[in-house]
Amino acid sequence: MKLRSRGNMRLNHWLLGVGFLLWMFSSAAHTSVLPENAKVTILYDNYVHTQGTKADWGFSCLIEGTEKTILFDAGTRPEIFWHNIQTLGVDVTKADVVVISHEHGDHTGGLWTFLEKKKNVSVYVPVSFSKEFEQKVKAAGSQIIRITAPQEICSGIYLTGELKGRANEQALIFATSRGTAVLTGCAHPGIVKIVERSKAILNQDVYFVFGGFHLMEHSQAQVNQIIEAFQESGVVKCGATHCTGEQQIEWFKQAYGENYVPMGVGSVIEITK
Ligand SMILES: [Fe+2]
Ligand SMILES: [Fe+2]
Repeated sequence: MKLRSRGNMRLNHWLLGVGFLLWMFSSAAHTSVLPENAKVTILYDNYVHTQGTKADWGFSCLIEGTEKTILFDAGTRPEIFWHNIQTLGVDVTKADVVVISHEHGDHTGGLWTFLEKKKNVSVYVPVSFSKEFEQKVKAAGSQIIRITAPQEICSGIYLTGELKGRANEQALIFATSRGTAVLTGCAHPGIVKIVERSKAILNQDVYFVFGGFHLMEHSQAQVNQIIEAFQESGVVKCGATHCTGEQQIEWFKQAYGENYVPMGVGSVIEITK
């Protein structure tokens, strides 16, 4: 039994590798660029940006001005998710698709009430999501799309494919005229690994990284190493939030100065600016 599951794991890794290589060979065809008015509004976060919204451990944001409107992650507690949405005056039900970064409750909690309000939605998840999650999505009248290799989901927006980590996770990447922008949920596979993979997928420098980086246990020296690795990938703008760690967020703020992008609930990030 053990041998069999190890064999399955090896097969999964092999398929991931082959998928990524196939993507790389075909990447010359992937030249679509994000619309200029693309913006991301933070709906759920450990920090408040706009007065009247509530902070709570979790993450969610809405991507608009793009070919498809995308709900990325869905926070933890439905009542806080909807409180923030109403306070910000955002119409989240106009989301055409949902992307869930990884199967942790602080990224999926608000999904079920969203799927009650909006039927027949495609929910993009990393390939190893549980059968239970799939059944819940189907029971709510929507479809699940399991992602293995990098995939374009609409003009200028791509998913990295599943990356292995403490939790398997996918990130969302934007192809802009300034380079690639990377949005992460928790970055459990490692924020540097995600940035490097994103750089390879679109074959261009990453100019902007934002989201949860999951670095609570990291020392200043370790965070500095990450900042150096970011520089090597071309990163000039950064916005760290959610599970990054309070002290660690301060170190990113100090390092990026005016190029640090404020996060927190209500923050609106113009991706191409
Ligand atoms: Fe998280
Ligand atoms: Fe997580």
